[in-house]
Amino acid sequence: MDGNGRWAGKRSLKRFLGHQQGAESVQFVVETASRINLPFITLYAFSLENNLRRPKSEVNFLMKLLRSYLMGNVKRMNDNNVRMEYIGRICELPSEVQDTMQWASEATARNTGTTLTLALNYGSRSEIVDAARSIVTDLIAEAHQRGCSLEDLIQVDGLEARLDEHHISDHLYTAHMPDPDLVIRTSGEQRISNFLLWQIAYSEIFITDRLWPDFRGIHLLEAIQNYQKRERRFGGLGETFTDEDLDALEPAAEVAEEIVTELTSKQLAPR
Ligand code: FPP
Repeated sequence: MDGNGRWAGKRSLKRFLGHQQGAESVQFVVETASRINLPFITLYAFSLENNLRRPKSEVNFLMKLLRSYLMGNVKRMNDNNVRMEYIGRICELPSEVQDTMQWASEATARNTGTTLTLALNYGSRSEIVDAARSIVTDLIAEAHQRGCSLEDLIQVDGLEARLDEHHISDHLYTAHMPDPDLVIRTSGEQRISNFLLWQIAYSEIFITDRLWPDFRGIHLLEAIQNYQKRERRFGGLGETFTDEDLDALEPAAEVAEEIVTELTSKQLAPR
């Protein structure tokens, strides 16, 4: 949800007002997601780096805004069948914020529509560190329970059986969620900014110049429409690429020779 500061700056307003307007966008977008039965939407609301690097006054404002957003919108979440969850190092947030977060997730826990996940005090690298720590902790507990050493435990099944991609996914904050199909980045930024690095390995990315406070449900729908036109290949050749297409491919060496001949004729060949 990038661009709150710029939205405010363009109107000669304080950054805080950009965040306040950004909170309005959250509700519009979430209710559109619910209307089209999107099962999951995850919003990057506050990163670990925001927490460490933004002025205290801005961090305090964001915490107050988050609390008032939750207190003011739980009824609308329930009306729209939206369940609220969180990812991030939540235990490092102020205790009154944690209490309100827990209240909002409990108050919406029975909803069966869209799951809105707010990434708060979230950083993907620290999520992976937390997953690694949790895997080691589990292994130590199991070794202890079986009365053997960690080394013996690993030797029984082999390290491959004890640690693979599924184990890591299962220990991330997002273990219960599918990997995202689409990542939308507002305000034209062409970075990932430490967001779900593991989970977005094969996600499609949609970048819009629109600043987050101007982002509405219709823009979510536009992004989804754009996504629906894409062909996802997950490292393969895709559905439209058949074995016949593969056979019909010109041998790479011949193509390379053609390119060199063409470049030489234009005196552009690499020396
Ligand atoms: C990034 O824009 C945005 C944030 C650091 C905060 C996002 C918070 C909200 C949208 C409101 C609170 C959230 C909820 C869920 C109620 P920026 O400040 O970096 O903008 P800039 O890049 O234009 O300076």
